[in-house]
Amino acid sequence: MGRQAASLPAGAGTPSVLFVDQSGQLGGAEVCLLPLAATWAARREVLLLSDGPFRARLESLDVPVRLACDARVSGIKKQAARLSWLMALPGIVRQVRTIATHAESFDVLFLNTQKALVLGALGKPLHRKRIIWHLHDIVSGDHFGPLQRFIVKWLARYAVDQVVANSHASAASLVALTGCEPADVPVVHNGVDLDEFSRADNDDRGALRRRLGLPEHVYLAGLFGRLAPWKGQHIAVDALARLPGLHLVLVGSALFGEQAYVESLREQAARLGVADRLIFAGFRDDMPAWMKAVDVILHTSTEPEPFGRVIIEGMAAGRPVIATSAGGVREIVRHRKNGWLVAPGDAEALAEAIETLHAMPEFAQQLAAQALVDVKQHFSVDVYLEQMTQTIADATR
Ligand code: UDP
Ligand code: GLC
Repeated sequence: MGRQAASLPAGAGTPSVLFVDQSGQLGGAEVCLLPLAATWAARREVLLLSDGPFRARLESLDVPVRLACDARVSGIKKQAARLSWLMALPGIVRQVRTIATHAESFDVLFLNTQKALVLGALGKPLHRKRIIWHLHDIVSGDHFGPLQRFIVKWLARYAVDQVVANSHASAASLVALTGCEPADVPVVHNGVDLDEFSRADNDDRGALRRRLGLPEHVYLAGLFGRLAPWKGQHIAVDALARLPGLHLVLVGSALFGEQAYVESLREQAARLGVADRLIFAGFRDDMPAWMKAVDVILHTSTEPEPFGRVIIEGMAAGRPVIATSAGGVREIVRHRKNGWLVAPGDAEALAEAIETLHAMPEFAQQLAAQALVDVKQHFSVDVYLEQMTQTIADATR
């Protein structure tokens, strides 16, 4: 990293930036990019490699967006084998060229996802721009196939000028993969807009639940995020079956074609006899309200979570959070101080934790209050924007 740094024109102020993201959906990496692109103090544009609600959200913030879609390239999965890459080759060449052409009038190319990294970095001989890569993933065998890791390793070493990781866990995985120095991978944690989350609702909980169509007089747990096997919604359904008084709402949808998993969750709920206590709310735009409507927030990822935006959002909403102890989550949650940690995949421990917080509402409230203090101090959007801006400025000096 840093070996092929192209230089900026002398005397330049804030650099102009072309942000590139492969997804039209609103995942954490995209939500994380929104405030950065919206507030960037020089010319900027977002180039999306797929269309979807992310474009509308950017446009609503007056961020100029360009689309460069190719279904075959978008169809390549994280664990893809050589054949999918070969079949997509003509599309890949086209997209590499498109990104390089758009990059020409910008100072910096900011690559926000893995595919954006591959397509943006391969075109470096054409565009010769500085490349900043925002690493949102743990680049280990749990999440990526060997070919993908091989490509990432070489591009990170020879084409990226500056990488910035969303957590120490993600950074450590890149250090292990590439053998680079830890100092070459600075970490900037995600930030959350505290006003947005505290403003959400100060009506009483009953009114809020009625408005959202949620059951009013029950102890309600909420699990927020896309429905996907590694996000572990099945573990929460298992815990639901162990706690007869509990109700659970799953907020989120299958963003990347995991429809079979959604069906398996419905079957699991029917088999365990808990379907009447389980609500599928689908994808929602108003997360603060949904988070405030529940009594406890669950995070159940079975693989190490690279960061876990939903956790800091839950903390900002003032709700107690139970999360799985792995990856970036350990940089956010301190067990029994500002939340509760359980081992990934352990439904029994999850059920016990929910029961404990239900039985000890004052303690649950204490955890939530400390979480709010911590999120204000370490995970505010202002801190995030300041650190990202500094990192980009340092990389382009
Ligand atoms: N999200 C949302 N509506 C939903 C479900 C999720 O807006 O119905 C947002 C959520 O608020 C968070 C992001 O999607 O900002 C998920 O980010 P996270 O980093 O937790 O997980 P990822 O899916 O990126 O791995
Ligand atoms: C990725 C990760 C998630 C993280 C988000 C924002 O989507 O899976 O853990 O919170 O990026 O950095």
